[in-house]
Amino acid sequence: ALVASSGAFAQKYPDKTITMIVPFSAGGPTDTVARLIAQSMSNDLGQQIIVENVGGAGGTIGAARVAKAEPDGYTVLLHHIGMSTAPSLYRKLSFNPLTDFEPVGLVTDVPMTLIARSDFPAQNFGELVSYIKTNKDKVSYANAGLGAASHLCGMLFMSALDTNMTTVPYKGTGPAMNDMLGGQVDVMCDQTTNTTSQIKAGKVKVYAVTTPTRVPSLPDVPTTKEAGLPNFEVAVWHGVYAPKGTPKDAVARLSKSLQVALADPNVVKRFAELGTEPVAQDRATPEALGSHLKAEIDKWAPVIKAAGTFAD
Ligand code: MLT
Repeated sequence: ALVASSGAFAQKYPDKTITMIVPFSAGGPTDTVARLIAQSMSNDLGQQIIVENVGGAGGTIGAARVAKAEPDGYTVLLHHIGMSTAPSLYRKLSFNPLTDFEPVGLVTDVPMTLIARSDFPAQNFGELVSYIKTNKDKVSYANAGLGAASHLCGMLFMSALDTNMTTVPYKGTGPAMNDMLGGQVDVMCDQTTNTTSQIKAGKVKVYAVTTPTRVPSLPDVPTTKEAGLPNFEVAVWHGVYAPKGTPKDAVARLSKSLQVALADPNVVKRFAELGTEPVAQDRATPEALGSHLKAEIDKWAPVIKAAGTFAD
């Protein structure tokens, strides 16, 4: 019956509001990306996409929600690199990123920035490193939980420095940023989509970007490589997923709509202001996201194993 009705489904879809789950707090970097593309996709689909924030446990609560949602094309997930680190970080994960979802397409690769509260004593990357090494556990590091990009970046940074900071977990780096602006937390590694405006306004200190080349919207900020950590590199890729079993026609329609959104001049402009850019058209596809996810799971498994960070 499903197959026979698929033509009719394709003509009707979507005929009601679609919910896009963001597995982190409102006002943060994932939310920012989601709202930009949701707006543009809504125009293309002729139906509203509502963004719903389901934060907690480094993005795994929101992802689990979508894994278990009705596979009817009306619930989708926008998640990032955490989709590939969670299987290694959590001994018991209630979903399987590879088998519980239909990939829709890749969205964007976002650079990260190492930042600190505006009155933090370190003035540059070298001073940051020596300050952390000297003060260790007295320095607080904000992240969005095990599985967040800010967790991954912090873990790699501490391991590269062979030192430690005291982790303060949030449900997203939106609220973490608020605490940093209030001077309640010291250091964070967070995506340019959340940090650019605060950096430009001088409300936080910035030490480095985590990409191999400088970020055009932050031309004065050195890369971690330039700053002296040649092997330290993180780019936060984002993807859209539907629950496993979502009709192929709906997945194809969503993927096409994602491609339209990523070519939208407003989206391109806002992304650029936020230090990022849309992926190429041929990466905003189910095939590209499916193979990227698999490759990233394989890439991070040994790194996380070596770092020895786990949750049950
Ligand atoms: C967020 O949207 O809050 C972030 O993506 C959190 C993170 O992964 O660091």
